[in-house]
Amino acid sequence: MCGIVGYIGSQNAVPIVIKGLKRLEYRGYDSAGIAYLKEGKLHVKKKAGKVQKLQEFLSTNLNTKMAIGHTRWATHGSPSDENAHPHLSMDNSLAIIHNGIIENYSTIKEGLKKRGYKFKSETDTEVLINLISDVKKNENTTLVKAIQLALSQVIGAYSIVVLDVSTPDELIVAKKGSPLLIGVGKNENFIASDAAPFLEYTKDVIYLNDDEIAKITAETINITTVDNQIQTPYIEKMNLELEAIEKGDYETFMLKEIHEQPRAIVETLRGRIASDFSTIHVRGLNENLSFLKTVEKIIIIACGTSWHAGLVGEYLIEGISRIPVEVEYASEFLYRDPLISKNDMVIAISQSGETADTLSALNLAKQKGAFVYGICNVVGSSIARSAGVGTYTHAGPEIGVASTKSFTSQVTVLILISLFLAKLKNNITKEEFHNITKELFSIHNKMTTTLNIIQKEIKEIAALYHHAKNFLYLGRGISFPVALEGALKLKEISYIHAEGYPAAEMKHGPIALIDKNMPTIIIATNKSNYEKVLINAEEIKARSGKLIAIVTQGDTKMHHIADHIIEVPETHNFLTPLITTIPLQLLSYHIASLRGCDVDQPRNLAKSVTVE
Ligand code: AGP
Repeated sequence: MCGIVGYIGSQNAVPIVIKGLKRLEYRGYDSAGIAYLKEGKLHVKKKAGKVQKLQEFLSTNLNTKMAIGHTRWATHGSPSDENAHPHLSMDNSLAIIHNGIIENYSTIKEGLKKRGYKFKSETDTEVLINLISDVKKNENTTLVKAIQLALSQVIGAYSIVVLDVSTPDELIVAKKGSPLLIGVGKNENFIASDAAPFLEYTKDVIYLNDDEIAKITAETINITTVDNQIQTPYIEKMNLELEAIEKGDYETFMLKEIHEQPRAIVETLRGRIASDFSTIHVRGLNENLSFLKTVEKIIIIACGTSWHAGLVGEYLIEGISRIPVEVEYASEFLYRDPLISKNDMVIAISQSGETADTLSALNLAKQKGAFVYGICNVVGSSIARSAGVGTYTHAGPEIGVASTKSFTSQVTVLILISLFLAKLKNNITKEEFHNITKELFSIHNKMTTTLNIIQKEIKEIAALYHHAKNFLYLGRGISFPVALEGALKLKEISYIHAEGYPAAEMKHGPIALIDKNMPTIIIATNKSNYEKVLINAEEIKARSGKLIAIVTQGDTKMHHIADHIIEVPETHNFLTPLITTIPLQLLSYHIASLRGCDVDQPRNLAKSVTVE
């Protein structure tokens, strides 16, 4: 939610910042802006709309050695030029970019108004920069000290970069809750919400911790805490290549990421399955065997697609390991005073590792003494660091706003966890463990086959139904959360209303919606409930509904009922989500493309939701 970029060094800062903003645009894309110093004056250029619009608005001959930029996802105030960042202090001496929310901004604003401050925007950020300016003047102190004092009055989450006209050779950054990375170069330094803007210049990175403030010049980085403790910068080497954040030959990031899934799963599994398929090694589990032997309940907390992965996890862990599982929306878990004991394991799932609801829910579980475990994709992210114990999905950067490969890699980790726990608790035979693990190890081949064999049908179905106003997605058992995920994918990128339902539950209400204009997608790949799903399919056909069925190769019965059949390779029941998700992703993709939607940056959304 909002992307931040800063540069200070010997190169021309503006093109670096603009390019960086484009790479961070997935975080928010309703307005963008840039601030720089020229001839001893602070200049701010900002525009509602995407970074491209800002770029067209900027003069081409700008040359400045320091600049900060921002791409916004609106929280306080509409996406207008005025509300876009950077914001200036009233005296035009300071500029700020901000990612996060200042919860007590209205109280601070009232105080500042009484002292004569006037505001041009509706944002909490303009309040913060005027508070910093006010403290700086009243205390007659340095910018770092003023920021320390101002932030001690602030409730909320932030990563900020502040530029001061009186100290043109330095940038000050601070962080709490929202991510902020410093890319360490040679006589140049970079600031960004993730590594993408500086990956081609340096792989040396400092992940700023909460409550830290850094003074950054081209040559130096000095870090203190909000209460003025000096910190030693810890520089890490990133293991990330530029091609991972570029589209390559694909039209969109989403399409690239859908096709990357087989490779992503190989990365997720790398080093985690023994060559004889007899054991599994998952970080954070092997180290906590005595707790896990007696764990009484597992609570999974997440949002959106990650929540759907959690639901798949419920079928997996209860089905394979026989441990009770609850899956909760992080936002609901947080505010209902949940019952958690020291014998419970709380698993937080998040692609970005920055989702505010999930992070807060995880911290609550920690406070209540649960064993907290994080499953994240982004290395060094807030949830990963706050959990302390956990594992990465290693799916690689996911830039399309709609989650695709992160879902299948999260499910893969949950399969590993359920197998691990099942073995630990003696709830699985050696043979069954071996069979599932072996099938999992080579599942990427079946995912590739799926991608190869379904393209034609999917495009034909998309062409027929892309004008539909509603879609229904049905599945039973472990395919039910897959149906939910399919419906979410369609909603978020094509803006068509879609609902996921347990197939049998359909007759308790949604069946009233079925008519010749209502396409229903039914997942019928699981042997254990296949006959029941066939009955649900018949119920739809009896009401003239259009039926698209996802079945295993060689299926004959569904051919007599459904209007369209998508065949996928057969696999173990517990692994089917890794296969059946793919046609749903591609169908949403092609429908959205035919409708002319921006699949990578759908309206109103942002990739990492860092506000509650
Ligand atoms: C899914 O396509 C969405 N982008 C969204 O639902 C997402 O899964 C949710 O916001 C959670 O994000 P996280 O996995 O980064 O925590």
